[in-house]
Amino acid sequence: MYGDRIRHSALTAKVMSAQQAAQLIKNGMTVGMSGFTRAGDAKALPQALIERARKESLRLTLITGASLGNDSDGLMANAGLLARRLPFQADAALRRKINTGEVMFIDQHLSETAEQLRSGSLAPIDVAVIEAAAITETGAIVPTMSVGNSASFASQARQIIVELNLTAPLALEGLHDIYLPANRPRREPIPLLGSGDRIGSTAIQIDPSRIAAIVITEHMDSPSNAGAPDAETDAIAGHVITFLEGEVKAGRLTEELLPLQAGIGTIANAVLHGLTKSSFRNLTMFSEVLQDSAIELLDSGQLALASASSITLSARVHERFLRDIERYRHKIVLRPQEISNHPEVVRRLGIIALNTALEFDLYGNVNSTHVGGTRMMNGIGGSGDFARNAHLSIFVSKSEAKDGAISSVVPMVAHVDHTEHDVDILVTEWGLADLRGLAPRERAPLIIDNCAHPDYRQQLRAYFEEALLRGGHTPHVLEKALSWHSRYDELKTMRA
Ligand code: COA
Repeated sequence: MYGDRIRHSALTAKVMSAQQAAQLIKNGMTVGMSGFTRAGDAKALPQALIERARKESLRLTLITGASLGNDSDGLMANAGLLARRLPFQADAALRRKINTGEVMFIDQHLSETAEQLRSGSLAPIDVAVIEAAAITETGAIVPTMSVGNSASFASQARQIIVELNLTAPLALEGLHDIYLPANRPRREPIPLLGSGDRIGSTAIQIDPSRIAAIVITEHMDSPSNAGAPDAETDAIAGHVITFLEGEVKAGRLTEELLPLQAGIGTIANAVLHGLTKSSFRNLTMFSEVLQDSAIELLDSGQLALASASSITLSARVHERFLRDIERYRHKIVLRPQEISNHPEVVRRLGIIALNTALEFDLYGNVNSTHVGGTRMMNGIGGSGDFARNAHLSIFVSKSEAKDGAISSVVPMVAHVDHTEHDVDILVTEWGLADLRGLAPRERAPLIIDNCAHPDYRQQLRAYFEEALLRGGHTPHVLEKALSWHSRYDELKTMRA
């Protein structure tokens, strides 16, 4: 019945319902599930586990590539299924459980999870649940719209459950490039010299006898929830493009730039979308997720090829992508996130990294994860994999949040994800601060004048002047450094 999808005929005997397959998962286990920024996630198994958790005691450690779609993370959290969750999430209900301490969340660089599993630093995977478009003649698993950590989970798990998604086009086969680094010591260098190179196999090779169950599903990926570009994101994009044009004029970049990475979310997607209005040609991407903007750049002919670990699109662009998949599939490579985000490869290829800050401070430290310094938003994702090692590390943010009650430029960030050492360029709708080669005392006035909202500039200048009187390489008035955050907690505004 599934002849074109289960090509290893002996495996058809493993087809069963999601409820039956879920019985393989026992209380206290560590489960590795496919899924990366709403793409290629298991859909039927989470539902079956939620049903069980409502009736019996079932608490799991759940490791994925990144965030899941179909509200699975929130529904699993509300059912009490998640004891421990890593390495990334972006769900409002799960976020609440993390911030009340009910779910232990380990916020990790996305390239690191596979390495920590391989070295035994994390509990081993008991059961892997992998969404697939097909199983080949040799029993290899063909992933769908993401690779994430699926190959690592499948290589390590004692048992594998495959969720065969009948809505995933068979034309996805050939899109993926599965390469995993060997164990240490004496690991070979990753032989990837250009963004589009293929260095592995097109499917996840496993011993088929480890496939314990195959579940059939027809649920689609959830569409991307990135918002549309607006006047502020257009302005941010304009500043980034002007800056990159300047780099070309100065001879530090060519018209092809260097491979681009763009983070998740509305702002990064909108900035990349802005490149469709630029004169850059023959661009490449070496990123972890491709959003609508990547498809638009492929359509405009400006993007020659794109490498990532997942494709997360709005419903409209997703439909177009699937309709024209033959046209796109030769220009896109999907890799394990360990490779798409590999610090050594990022450094060697010279990535231009574009990520989003919740807030940044006068000296260039960036907070991307903790609202008010304590409450988890989504997680660091791959931003640190790229930012620390990129040729250019750019962070973008709107200058204000919550109708102007919060300034995104603060005296001191209340949580640091990216230190001043990892940040080259800061951009808001007001302008861009190029921090390269500048000492902290030189950075602060530039950031205030170019990036802060005009309503907050005077307040920031006053802080900086008072800090200068105290001296130091990085001047601060320590007792006031976080006063903007505590003022917001108390009065719901950072305005003095
Ligand atoms: N304090 C409190 N809230 C803030 C804030 C601040 N300084 N800055 C922004 N916010 C709020 C916004 O008001 C918005 O809230 P809402 O959802 O209630 O409207 C929310 O944060 C998202 O902000 P938005 O402006 O829509 O940006 P975004 O969708 O681009 O997301 C991040 C921004 C930082 C949350 C997101 O990029 C992220 O999670 N980054 C970390 C992971 C990462 O960078 N991965 C990159 C590799 S893929």
